[in-house]
Amino acid sequence: MTDSVISYHPDAALRLLRPGRLAGLQQALEAARDATLNDVELWQSGESVPPERQPLDAGFIQWPEELLADLQANRGESLIARLETTGSRLRQLADSLVVLGIGGSYMGMRAMFEALRPACWNELSRSERDSAPRLYFDGWNVDSDRQHELLSLLERRAVAGPDAAAGRTAIISISKSGGTLEPAVAFRAFRDFVERRFPGMDRDLIVPVTGESGRLRSLAEAAGYRDVYSIPDGIGGRFSVLTAVGLLPAVTAGLNIRTLLQGAAALTDHFRRAPFEQNVVLQFVAVCHAFEADHGMNCRVLSTWGSRLEAVGLWYDQLLSESLGKHERGATPLTVVNTRDLHSRGQQHQEGRRDKLITNLLPGPPVLAPLTVAAHRLDQDRLNQLAGTTLPRILEAAISGTNQAYADAGRPTADLLLPGLSEHSLGQLFQMLMLATVVEGRLVGTNPYGQPGVEAYKKNMQANLGIQ
Ligand code: PA5
Repeated sequence: MTDSVISYHPDAALRLLRPGRLAGLQQALEAARDATLNDVELWQSGESVPPERQPLDAGFIQWPEELLADLQANRGESLIARLETTGSRLRQLADSLVVLGIGGSYMGMRAMFEALRPACWNELSRSERDSAPRLYFDGWNVDSDRQHELLSLLERRAVAGPDAAAGRTAIISISKSGGTLEPAVAFRAFRDFVERRFPGMDRDLIVPVTGESGRLRSLAEAAGYRDVYSIPDGIGGRFSVLTAVGLLPAVTAGLNIRTLLQGAAALTDHFRRAPFEQNVVLQFVAVCHAFEADHGMNCRVLSTWGSRLEAVGLWYDQLLSESLGKHERGATPLTVVNTRDLHSRGQQHQEGRRDKLITNLLPGPPVLAPLTVAAHRLDQDRLNQLAGTTLPRILEAAISGTNQAYADAGRPTADLLLPGLSEHSLGQLFQMLMLATVVEGRLVGTNPYGQPGVEAYKKNMQANLGIQ
């Protein structure tokens, strides 16, 4: 990729494909890119979408560019500025933030938080967090103990009294449909807590993010919350990380959402214009598709090197599963964190079924100064030979050692390299993987939008509970 910072290096995998295989896919992939971009035009035109192309949720593609243009044109009135204002207000008012949501209304924010905030964020003092709140996620499961524990913790903090930000909790409640049972049940519990503990402040402390209609929207109107953010109609849940769904919690947690959007917009531009050989999206899809079609490798392992990227992998698991897991087809995604999982799944990846394409997701240099192995007078562990070696150097040895072991066994690997973890690189990565998923859907004739299969369990669960 030439004009952007993410780079894709599939050389080791390419040695296992027949010569010219990728070039042979060029025409089909360029057509899939055109189809993906034509969807945007169709969606923007407001014309009715032919039944075979429904549902069509292509709004995410130009969304980052639209938001940045809106910022230029409307400054303080723009959506970005309004999100920033709400974020500052929540930071001032509260020291704990609970984000409620499930699936696409949860996983992207968790990915950003884990990638860009320290693992021990919630243990830091308020000033170490630059007045950004501690962050908790709920509503992504029905787990009574877990919810109970969190509510009890927040109750104990509230003892500080409603006058101190340290004791207060803010809630961002996210559901596009507004009717998903898990986050709705959680919202009722956390809403009750805020209303009871901080009387008169709930309209400021609670911010719903939802579609234009639905139960959460009606509830928000009835409660008169000061801010309610919309999830645009043409952007599906798992494509919504760069809407208010991800942006509001992110900005409240102190992340730079302008840079995040700039990263995504740069990637979209690259996708539109870069020739096939340099196009990171098209090359990624070509390699994934070729291994699946030619070698039956329908298990896509996203091998993340660094625990900060695990939640990005989980976000991608959802994206790929819900978008392409249809009509009894679609590759199975699997996120691993190394070196941790070299000691669990590694055996199978090295010697198990030959159904896996491994993509290494490499975060680039560490954010903080690298640690080194210290010399010690007790050398029974024989580590003095590594004295002065940095941990990144040890990780590098693990990465190349693993790739070599896979190559020796004829197992395909490719590298997706970030220049470092930042809002800009993460914005690019999100947009790249969303575009790649849609392009692959267009290539193989699967509509990547919609998730009809998810409805079956919801219907049964509601019937079991006797609710409508
Ligand atoms: O991708 C999707 O659309 C889904 O994963 C949804 O995000 C998930 O089901 C949650 O839906 P909602 O935001 O309507 O509560």
